[in-house]
Amino acid sequence: MKQETSQTTQKTNKGIKKIGVLTSGGDAPGMNAAIRAVTRSAIAHNLEVIGIHHGFKGLIENEFTPLSSSGVSGILQNGGTILKTARSREFLTEEGRSKAYQNLVNAGINAVVVIGGDGSFTGALVFSKEFDIPFVGIPATIDNDIFGTDYTIGYDTALNTVVQAVDKIKDTAASHGRVFFIEVMGREAGLLALNGGIAVGAEVILIPESNTEHQAFDRFISKGYKRKKTSGIVVIAEGEEMGGALKLAKKAEQENPDLDIRVSILGHMQRGGNPTAQDRVAATKMGVAAVDAILDDQKSIMVGLRYGKIVHVPFNKAVKLNHSIDQDLLEIQRLITI
Ligand code: F6P
Repeated sequence: MKQETSQTTQKTNKGIKKIGVLTSGGDAPGMNAAIRAVTRSAIAHNLEVIGIHHGFKGLIENEFTPLSSSGVSGILQNGGTILKTARSREFLTEEGRSKAYQNLVNAGINAVVVIGGDGSFTGALVFSKEFDIPFVGIPATIDNDIFGTDYTIGYDTALNTVVQAVDKIKDTAASHGRVFFIEVMGREAGLLALNGGIAVGAEVILIPESNTEHQAFDRFISKGYKRKKTSGIVVIAEGEEMGGALKLAKKAEQENPDLDIRVSILGHMQRGGNPTAQDRVAATKMGVAAVDAILDDQKSIMVGLRYGKIVHVPFNKAVKLNHSIDQDLLEIQRLITI
C-alpha cells in the first residue's frame, strides 16, 4: 500500500525576507491566534518576523520587536492582543506615514500584515498608494461588518458573550416582571445585535440597518406584553453613539408609564475573553493565508473567508462597500417573535 506523506510546501520570494505584523483599531478575541499563525507560518517559510506594538502608532514610533516561534507560545487561547493596539491619528497625516515608511525601510521589513477592521485597512490602503511596501490585511472586529468576508475574527466570541450576559439578565427580568433595554456593541453595524437577539429570543431587536424600531416595539407592547408577557428583552445595537439605549428607554417609559423598564449597556466586556474555537480556527486559517498572499506578491488586499474558503479582497472594496445585513434573518425574527 502506498504510504501517504504530508509535506509542507515551503515558498520563497526573493524580495521578501522579513515581515512585520501589527494589530490595530478595536481589539477582538482571536487577534493573538492570528499573530501566532502569521509568525509561525512566516518562520516555516524562512522569513523573519517583527512584531509592531500599538498598531500604526508603533509603526511611526518604531516600536519593533522580533517574534519567534516560542515567543508566540501560549497566546492562542488569550483574548486581547500581545502586540497591543491603538487608533492612530498621526497615521492619517502624510508626515506620519513617511516616518512609518522610513522606520520600515531602516528595519529591513519588506511587507506588513495588518490585523484589524475597516479603519485599519483604510490606513493601509492610503499607505500602499504612496509607498512600495506591500500591506496585507486580516479582518478582526467583533462587529463582523467588513465587505467581502463572511467572517471577522472576534465576532463569534463576542456573540457568545452577548448571549451569556442576556441569558442572565433574562432571569432577573422574569423575576421582577421588567422590560430590559440592552445595548450591544456595533458602531453602525447591527449584526451582533441581530444574531445575539435571535439567540436569546429577544422580543424586539433594533439595529441601524432597519428603521422599523417603533413598529417592533409597539407590536411587542400591544400583542405580546399587554396580552400575556410579563417581561421582555429589547436588544439595541449601539449605532453611532454609545448610550442610545438610555434615550430609547426613556421615551418608552414616557409612552408606557405602567412598564417597569431597566437599561443595561453591555459595553467593552464584549471585546474581551478567551476566543471561541471558531475564532481560533478562523484566525489561524487567515494568518497562514496572509503570509501566503505576501509570498505570492499580493498587496493592498485583505484575506477573508467566503463559504469557508480563503478569498482575497482588495482593500478599496473592503473599506468602501458595506457588509449588508441578511434580510432573511430580519424576516425570521419577525416571524417567530410573539
Ligand atoms: O469596532 C469595534 C467596536 O467595539 C464597536 O463595536 C464599538 O462601537 C467601538 O469599537 C468602540 O470603540 P472604543 O473601544 O474605541 O470605544
